[in-house]
This record gives sequence, C-alpha cells and structure tokens, in this order.
Amino acid sequence: MAVLTLCSASGAPGVTTSAFALARVWHLATGRSALLVDADPVGSALIPAFAGAGIPTGGGVLAVAAERASSADDILRRSVALDDDAACLVLTGVTEPAQARPLGAVWTTLVEAAHEFDGLGIDVLVDAGRLGHGWEPQPLIDAADIAVLVTRTSLSSVALARPGLAELARRRPAGAPVRLLVVGRPAPYSSREVARALDGDALPEIPDDAAGAHALLLAEPPSGRLGRSGLLRAARQTAAGLAGAATTTRAGEVGVR
Ligand SMILES: Nc1ncnc2c1ncn2[C@@H]1O[C@H](COP(=O)(O)OP(=O)(O)O)[C@@H](O)[C@H]1O
Ligand SMILES: [Mg+2]
Repeated sequence: MAVLTLCSASGAPGVTTSAFALARVWHLATGRSALLVDADPVGSALIPAFAGAGIPTGGGVLAVAAERASSADDILRRSVALDDDAACLVLTGVTEPAQARPLGAVWTTLVEAAHEFDGLGIDVLVDAGRLGHGWEPQPLIDAADIAVLVTRTSLSSVALARPGLAELARRRPAGAPVRLLVVGRPAPYSSREVARALDGDALPEIPDDAAGAHALLLAEPPSGRLGRSGLLRAARQTAAGLAGAATTTRAGEVGVR
C-alpha cells in the first residue's frame, strides 16, 4: 500500500497522538505493519515519552541521515519495534528544530523506499507536524498516497482548517487526495458538520480520551486496558477507513495508466 501523511494547520489538535494510535492498531485493522515516521520539524513528542517508558529510540532519523542510509532495511535498523512481532515500528525524530533542517535527503529516501516497504508488508505513517514552519517533510507530503489534515472541532480550529486544507492541496500534485481527521467529537460540532462546513472528506473521527492518550504515550501494549480505550477502538475504524481510501486511490491510479 501506502505512505499516509498527517499534519495540522494550527494549534496542537492531536497529530502525534492520532498518528501513534493509528500505528498501534494498524496491524489489527489492516493486517499490515506500520512504520511511524516522527517527522515533525519542531521536535519529537515521542522521544521524551519513550525515554520515560524505557524504550530505546533506535537512532531515528538523525542516524539515517548520518549514515546516508538508502534502503528500507537500513531505515528499519534505525527504527524501534514496539511489539515482538514488529507490527508497529517507529522511526524517531529530532529533539530540536535546527536538527530538522538538513533532513530533506532522509524524507526523499523514505519516499524512494516506499516500494520496498510495501513489499515487506509495511505501510508508512508520517507525523509531519504543523504546516508553515518551512522545514516540513515536504517530500512525504508531496508523495503521500493520502494527506490528512487533523483538526479539532472548536470554531477556531475549524476556521483555520479551511486555509490549511487549501495549503495542503497546494503542496500536493493536482487532485492528490486530502482527507480530514476530526479529533474530539462530538462537542461543539460533529465530524460530519465539520466536514460539511469545510467541503472536505472526513475519515472516521477520533474521540477525546485523555486516559487513552496518556496510556498510549506510556507505550502500553495495544491489548488490555489501552486496547479497550475509546481512543484505540476509534483508531481501528480510522485506520480501516484510511487504508480503504488508500487502496481506492491506488486502484484509481492503476486504472488511469
Ligand atoms: N484524542 C485525544 N484525546 C485526549 N487528548 C488528546 C487526544 N489527542 C491529543 N490529545 C492531547 O492533546 C495534546 C496535544 O496532542 P499532540 O498529539 O501532541 O498534538 P499535536 O501533535 O497536534 O501537536 C496532548 O496533551 C495530548 O495528550
Ligand atoms: Mg505533534
């Protein structure tokens, strides 16, 4: 399948939490593994969480850059597997913005390795952070099968999601799919209302679930308490919706050729 890139237009609507939740349930929802790429140029929210949970980072994007790694295997060697069966892998990111500036070649390498990952049964989920810094992982926004704009349901978040969707579309090839992911249903607006107001296509939404978000960041396994959380149960629906949309996109591309 796929490279799927998540980003936001404003605030901190939950891009990292949603991307991590999707990666955690990806195998359950799709039967394929997920490589979560922590590509927020402002800095990783996962590295401190992993440090707190005693999970080694595997070197992450900085090691991939330093080694000029070029294959999927090289990238996987610098990723951390969160389960014994490597169903959820994470390529950790940077700890300060200045480190993100020379990473353009890493993002291009990831795009070039997408076919290899595909052959290994791995889909690539990208946390691209907020649009507008100038150091976004543009190759991963450009080449994503689907780009996802994450928004909250508050009026301010929805208001800024409109130019955000336009900006995201502008950064992608003409007609390349863009989807909305609404976090925090149902108040004050439902996902459907948000999508209608923005003339956008919404994925199955993710609820507000502070306890689930907390357990997720502690890297609890996606079985047991975390697996039963509203966050991960919804993330399974979102993952299935996203994977389905990516498959449809690909089938369309094949049909056009
Ligand atoms: N679905 C959710 N339910 C409850 N809290 C959430 C949810 N998603 C994110 N959060 C919380 O919101 C804050 C920002 O989330 P984060 O994922 O880091 O946002 P972003 O990556 O967009 O900056 C964190 O404190 C996180 O725990
Ligand atoms: Mg983030």
